Amino acid sequence: MKNVRILFVDDETAFLDTIIKRMKKRGFNPERASSGNDALALLRENPIDIIVSDIRMPGMDGIELLGEVKKRYPKTEIILLTGHATSQDGVVGIKEGAFDYLSKPIEIDHLVSKIGQAFDKILRDEEKKKETEFRVKMEQQMVATKRLASLGTLAAGVAHEVNNPLAIINESAGWMGQILEKEELAEMPRKTDFKMALGKINNAVERARVITHQLLGIVKKDNAVLSEVNVGEFIDEIIQMAGVEIKSKDIKIIKHIDDTLTSVWIDPHQVRQILINLLTNAVHATPDGGKLFLALEDSDKDILFFIKDTGEGIPKENLEKIFEPFFTTKSPGNGTGLGLFIIKGIIEKLGGGIDVKSKLGVGTTFCITFPK
Ligand SMILES: Nc1ncnc2c1ncn2[C@@H]1O[C@H](COP(=O)(O)OP(=O)(O)OP(=O)(O)O)[C@@H](O)[C@H]1O
Ligand SMILES: [Mg+2]
Repeated sequence: MKNVRILFVDDETAFLDTIIKRMKKRGFNPERASSGNDALALLRENPIDIIVSDIRMPGMDGIELLGEVKKRYPKTEIILLTGHATSQDGVVGIKEGAFDYLSKPIEIDHLVSKIGQAFDKILRDEEKKKETEFRVKMEQQMVATKRLASLGTLAAGVAHEVNNPLAIINESAGWMGQILEKEELAEMPRKTDFKMALGKINNAVERARVITHQLLGIVKKDNAVLSEVNVGEFIDEIIQMAGVEIKSKDIKIIKHIDDTLTSVWIDPHQVRQILINLLTNAVHATPDGGKLFLALEDSDKDILFFIKDTGEGIPKENLEKIFEPFFTTKSPGNGTGLGLFIIKGIIEKLGGGIDVKSKLGVGTTFCITFPK
C-alpha cells in the first residue's frame, strides 16, 4: 500500500504543502500538480494509480481532468475533493467515473482509508482482467481440441471409405501383373512399360494404405494390452525395423538402458508404433554419418524414453505445430504430418506424456514418459 503512486492536484499551494507533508509522515510519497494541465503533463511521464483532485480549479476543473484521465489511463482511480458547500459537484464526479469524493476540510485518516479502498479496487480489477484472459485462453484451447476431435473423426471416416476402392485397385493391379506373366502375352509389345506402370500403382497404393491406416489409428480406442517385454530385445527389434535407412545413411546409434530395466510391462504394439515414429523422424533429420542416442531410464513412477538426434533441429515457431495433424516440413509423398499427432494421442491414452527440446543446427531430443 505504501508503494501506491498518488498524485494530488489543487490550485491552492498551501493546501498541497500541508497534505503532502502529512502523507509523507505516514510513509507515502505522493506527486503534486497545481492544475489539470500540469497533472496531465505529469501523467505522460509517470504512471499514477490514484489521483486526488480538487474539483474547482481555474482552467481545467476536476471533472474535466477526470474525463481526460479516464480516456487515457482507464486503470487510474480518481478521488475528488469538493468544498463543503459544493458536495453536489462530487455526485456529478461519481457519475463521470470518479471512485468517490471527499468534502474539504479533509480528515487525513479518512483520506488514507479512501485511498486504500481505491487501491483495492485497482488490484481487484487487475485480478479480474487476468481471470478473463485466462478464461478466454482456455475457451480457445477447448475449441481447438474439439475441432481436432471432429477432424480426427472425419479423417478416419474418409480413410475407411477410401480403403475399399484402394483394395480393388490393389487386387486389380495384382491380377494384371499375373496376366502379364502368362505365356499368351510373352510377346506383348511394351511389356516392360506396363510392368513399370504396375509397379508405380503398387507403390502408390502402399503409400495410400499407410496413410489410411494412420488415420484410422487416430480414433481407434484400442485398450492397452500389456505384456512383459525384454527391454534390450525390444529396442533392438525397433532399431532393426527402422534399419534400412539407418544403414544407408551410415548413422551410428548409441544405446543406454538403465540396469534396473531388464524387463517392463508395456503394450508392445503401441509402444513400438510410438518409438518407430520417433526413430524414423530422427533418422530423417540426421545427416549422413550422424549420431542418434536412445536412452531408457528408470525413475520412481515412470519409465523415461529419450530419443536424441544430431540433426537440423526444429525452428521455435514450429515447435508448437509439430503435434498438429498434417503439419509436415517434408516434401509431398515423404511425410503425411500425422506421425507425431497420432503418437501423442496414443501416449496420452496410455497415461504418459511427450516433451521435445530442440536447438537449430544442434539436434532434437524427444522425451516420453510412461507410467510404470
Ligand atoms: N527429430 C526431428 N528433427 C527435426 N524435425 C523433426 C523431428 N521430428 C519431427 N520433426 C518435424 O515435425 C514434423 C512433423 O513430424 P511428423 O512425424 O508428425 O510428420 P512427418 O514426419 O512430416 O510425416 P510422417 O510421420 O507421416 O512421415 C516433421 O515434418 C518435421 O518438420
Ligand atoms: Mg514422422
